Amino acid sequence: MRKKRFVLLTGNRGFFGQTREAWVSMDVGKMVRAFEREGLKPEVMPFHAVVNGAVSVRDAVVFYTFSQKPNRRQYIIDAIRFLDDGTNFIVPRYDLLLCHENKGYQELFKRRLGVESLAASYFSSADDLSGYPVEFPVVLKSADTSNGKGVFLVRDEAELMRRIRGLERQSLGTRLDLFRRKHLRRKKRYPAYPDYDNRTDYVQYREYALKERNFILQEYVPDLTWDWRVQAMAGKYYVIRRRTFKNDFRASGTKLHEFSREADPALLDFADGIFRKMDAPFLSMDIGARGRGYCLFEFQALHFGVNSVINSPGYHSRDGSAWRFTETRSEIETEIATGLVRYLDGLGPDPG
Ligand SMILES: Nc1ncnc2c1ncn2[C@@H]1O[C@H](COP(=O)(O)OP(=O)(O)OP(=O)(O)O)[C@@H](O)[C@H]1O
Ligand SMILES: [Mg+2]
Repeated sequence: MRKKRFVLLTGNRGFFGQTREAWVSMDVGKMVRAFEREGLKPEVMPFHAVVNGAVSVRDAVVFYTFSQKPNRRQYIIDAIRFLDDGTNFIVPRYDLLLCHENKGYQELFKRRLGVESLAASYFSSADDLSGYPVEFPVVLKSADTSNGKGVFLVRDEAELMRRIRGLERQSLGTRLDLFRRKHLRRKKRYPAYPDYDNRTDYVQYREYALKERNFILQEYVPDLTWDWRVQAMAGKYYVIRRRTFKNDFRASGTKLHEFSREADPALLDFADGIFRKMDAPFLSMDIGARGRGYCLFEFQALHFGVNSVINSPGYHSRDGSAWRFTETRSEIETEIATGLVRYLDGLGPDPG
């Protein structure tokens, strides 16, 4: 893998996310120097150069940034799909790009990989729910939000419908248009469509114009007072315990973080098992305790928050059949470069 050409794809103005926030780039120069110290020579280029044929990328390892902005997200998806042509080695792979900020596809992908998980279903509309028995309470998550904003604990069917309706949006323009179609429209006729009638057309258009949000329903794990963010960096595991707010089941969005020098080996084994199935250099996992074991709430293979790495007093790694904690301060650009190289080299047993 090291012999291949190595391409590093950035966003606009050399952006490579992320550091403090989703809009703050890493230092790409520093990352390049860290790769060079590992013996790799990255060719740094923006997505648009690949998309518009200014450079041709074949037989290369392709490592890329992500963007939370919807248009750039789509642009990146297009570019990576284009490059995923069988000659390039895409890191992280295309499926993991689709999983990002898409809790719906995450559920499908977990199912395909056989990652044991919480029971979950994925829908694009409240109408589709009939025929699928829902056990309450259940966790409703809009597919595309983060920071716990689209995550709700729902106790019964009426509340579920209310919450789903709350995710739907009808712009003022559409509402006015619907009013016009309903009340102000002359009777129309289409010779080719003799069944046409204004009222039916209005009802069908109303359904078509409604801006819905895709959502998942995920089995609820009761009575948690914290969850873990486990950040895997190719064999190194950084662990944060995040406490939930009082009277809220969610731990994300709280700033109540503790770095764990001591972590349950079973938690690390669980995280390690998922990490290996996903086949990526980096994986951020939100994990909860469930019965005597653990469960995965969601994951991200790129553009994850990096505070767990840079503020941590160290990381856990495998030491034979046990785990050990190494005290160290980590710099994100170096961890990305060395982690990627460990991954490309086939994940050696000790990242030490
Ligand atoms: N099925 C569940 N049962 C119990 N608690 C859950 C469940 N799913 C999520 N939670 C809690 O809600 C929090 C937010 O859920 P999740 O991580 O899926 O959403 P998010 O909006 O992507 O959050 P973030 O972007 O901050 O990671 C989790 O950290 C966890 O504390
Ligand atoms: Mg989360």
